[in-house]
Amino acid sequence: DWTMASFRQAAVARIRREVGTGRVICGLSGGVDSSVAAVLIHEAIGDQLSCIFVDHGLMRQGEAEEVVATFRDRFNIRLVHRDASDTFLDALAGVTDPEQKRKTIGRLFVEVFEEEQAKLGGAEFLAQGTLYPDVIESVSVTGGPSVTIKSHHNVGGLPEGMRMRLLEPLRELFKDEVRALGRELGLPEAIVGRHPFPGPGLAIRIPGEVTREKVALLRKVDAIFLEEIRSAGLYDAIWQGFAVLLPVRTVGVMGDGRTYDHACALRAVTSTDGMTADVYPFDMGFLMRVANRIVNEVRGINRVTYDITSKPPGTIEWE
Ligand code: XMP
Repeated sequence: DWTMASFRQAAVARIRREVGTGRVICGLSGGVDSSVAAVLIHEAIGDQLSCIFVDHGLMRQGEAEEVVATFRDRFNIRLVHRDASDTFLDALAGVTDPEQKRKTIGRLFVEVFEEEQAKLGGAEFLAQGTLYPDVIESVSVTGGPSVTIKSHHNVGGLPEGMRMRLLEPLRELFKDEVRALGRELGLPEAIVGRHPFPGPGLAIRIPGEVTREKVALLRKVDAIFLEEIRSAGLYDAIWQGFAVLLPVRTVGVMGDGRTYDHACALRAVTSTDGMTADVYPFDMGFLMRVANRIVNEVRGINRVTYDITSKPPGTIEWE
C-alpha cells in the first residue's frame, strides 16, 4: 500500500528526530494499536525501546503467550512480561460494580506499570497507541456537557507525577489505517485484524464478582465461540465477538441427571467505530452448533443465549 509505505517512512523519520538518543517505554496490551505503535517505534529506534506487558490475568485464552511470542521472539523487541494476575484478581475480590472494576484495574495497571518502569531505570518518553478517534472522544467526554457512560482508560494521559514526554505516532490515524500500517510492518494477521478488546479485559464480561474460576470458565466458552466464528469465515465481518458469563444459574438436564449451572451469553456486532453497533445476524444453525459445543465441552455451563440488542440502546459490552 503506497500511502502506508510513505506514512511509515515519514513516521520513522519523525520518531528518530523526536527521540534522538532518548529511551522510550511502551505499554503493550496485545491489541492492534499498541502493537503497531511498538513495531513502528522499534523500526525507528531499535533497542532504545523497551515494552512492558502488564498481564492482568484477564486476557482471552492463549493471548498472553501470543504477545510474548510475537514481540520478543519474532520482532526481537525488548519486552518485560509481568504476570500480575494474582495482584489483579485479589484486588477484584468482592468488587461487583462495573465502574469500580474499571477503577481498580486502571489503578493497579498504573501501579504495576510504574514498578516495571522503575526497574528499567526510567525513560524520557512514554509511547502510546492513541488513535485519532481516541483524541476526539476524550475531548468530547471531558470538554462537553455529555455524561461519561463508561470510563475508558485508553486516553488517560500520564499518571500524576510522571515526568515523561508522550510519544503517540498513530495520533492521526483511524483504525483501518492502523491495520494497514500493521500489515505494512509485517505484523501477523492474528494481531492486525484482531477485534477490539477492552482494557479491563474479561472482568467486564463477568457481571458480578470476578473470580479465577469464572475467568477460567469464560475463557473456554469464548474460545469455542471464536473458533467457530473463525472456521465459518466470519471473523472479519464482525467488529467484536465474545462471550459473557452470566451471574445466574439455571436448571438443565444432562444424561439422567439434573444440572444447576451457569448461563452464558454470546455477543457479536458489526460497527465501524464502536459508537453504534448492529447485531450480527448469524443463521440459527450456526448458533445452535456453537451452543451445543459449549454445553457439551464446558463443564459448568448448561445454557447459552444470544444477545440481540443493538447499540444504542444497549452498549457493546455488558458492563
Ligand atoms: P461499549 O460497551 O461502551 O464499548 O459500547 C464501546 C467500545 O469500547 C470498548 N470498551 C472499552 N475499552 N476500556 C477499553 O479500553 C474500557 O473500559 C472499555 N469499555 C468498553 C468496547 O469493547 C467497545 O469496543
